[in-house]
Amino acid sequence: KVWTKEERYRPYQEWDKTHLALLKEKIANSKWRLGYHIQPNTGLLNDPNGFSFFNDQWHVFYQSYPMGAVHGLKSWYHLTSDNLVDWKEEGTKVFPDSLYDSHGVYSGTALPVSDQLFLAYTGNVRDDNWVRHSYQLGAWMDESGTVQKIETPLIAAPPKGYTSEFRDPQVFRYNDRYLMVIGAQDETEKGKILTYQSSDLLTWQCKGELEFTDKEMGFMIECPNLLVTEDAALLIFCPQGLEPDICSYGNIYPNTYVIGDSYDSEANCLIQPTVLKNLDEGFDVYATQAFQAPDNRLLSISWVGLPEIDYPTDQEEWAHCLSSVKELFIKDKKLYQRPVAEMKQLRIGEAIELNKDSDSFFETETNQYEIRLSFDPLSSGTLTLFTNKEQNEGLTINFDSQHGKIMIDRSQAGTVFGKEYGFVRSFSVEQKPLDLQIFVDSSIVEVFINEGEKVATMRVFPETHQTGVHLECDGGYQGKLWQLRKTN
Ligand code: FRU
Repeated sequence: KVWTKEERYRPYQEWDKTHLALLKEKIANSKWRLGYHIQPNTGLLNDPNGFSFFNDQWHVFYQSYPMGAVHGLKSWYHLTSDNLVDWKEEGTKVFPDSLYDSHGVYSGTALPVSDQLFLAYTGNVRDDNWVRHSYQLGAWMDESGTVQKIETPLIAAPPKGYTSEFRDPQVFRYNDRYLMVIGAQDETEKGKILTYQSSDLLTWQCKGELEFTDKEMGFMIECPNLLVTEDAALLIFCPQGLEPDICSYGNIYPNTYVIGDSYDSEANCLIQPTVLKNLDEGFDVYATQAFQAPDNRLLSISWVGLPEIDYPTDQEEWAHCLSSVKELFIKDKKLYQRPVAEMKQLRIGEAIELNKDSDSFFETETNQYEIRLSFDPLSSGTLTLFTNKEQNEGLTINFDSQHGKIMIDRSQAGTVFGKEYGFVRSFSVEQKPLDLQIFVDSSIVEVFINEGEKVATMRVFPETHQTGVHLECDGGYQGKLWQLRKTN
């Protein structure tokens, strides 16, 4: 089906009442629906928005286009949780229904302020000539979950010298005021991050460009996220059109980060920033959001999906999911990303022990499981997920811990897609005894290496019989496999 512009931007209420019900019926037959990840009921999910802790609960929203698996008229869909693994769907919360967001309630963040949650987002507007106008907008959500938009834009236009590619505000407290970082493009079409400050959240002054690199950041930066802690400043962002010699990447657009010793608000720069690094070594992570929770943990969540790429579930009228929640640690200016401790609450029953003496093939039957494997020094081998008894298909994870090399190949894992960007990702890890912790959920895999030194996330689209795990290794290992429960 080819979607016309008119269809993609048709107001939700003008769709036939039966449309969503029909989509749901179609989706119910999908073999790729997820067991414990956030996924759309219908249509397309993209960026996580407003990840926060408010009113004694975790909150996350996501970019939603419910009418089909395309980037259409976006809104914010809301979920709440008590434990970061069981999420309750609260429904669409911020609708594209005002003059300033008529063509999409685009990405943004949330900040608890006394007994309300402040939402900052981009209003996307197309004029009669289909020229884009971007407004940074605000809204308040109260404890009952009712959202009230602030009528006038927080920022009505980009500053002079910047184009209307100006979006994805992140608002946070900094000392006695509020700061906002926004993804931007300057008039020479270079990707930038702009910083604003405010004392009341309603009037904002531009502080100029955030300095964090002396390299060119492609043509546009999306979803900037600055986390300033007592010991470091972590900047996560999505540069589009980045030269690969600045940071090598395989995906259409990378999700990257830099770490500074701290953030200098006077100079609006990161102090001694590292070079750019990939946040994820896999195939599908984008638009990651992170914040410091009241319990001081740094928590992140990502969109697992990429702009401008067709995925196999598009045929089924739904697309993409969010990652599991991760806890971030910064040590010696290095980032570690680990599954949040609450993920243990998904385990059902006793773990199955895996070691050299156990069978090298294991039938999970469910494709909802966690594997933990600790290898003897210098081991190399191949772990295959989504395989069968004959072992002629599956997702292969090749490891060589002596040389600190990992290679992941999804070409035989089921229905393939994204051919243009390759089926293999290779990357290096520390040369030490390898530790793997892997979460599998129907059509997503999240691989944590050496306690979060590297993470590789990917979608795969296997056939229903592909539920086996096979491990071939030249050394010894200790491992466990837990079946995980469904939360959806
Ligand atoms: C990133 C992005 C954001 C924008 C949103 C629109 O995936 O393009 O820059 O706000 O998606 O859905």
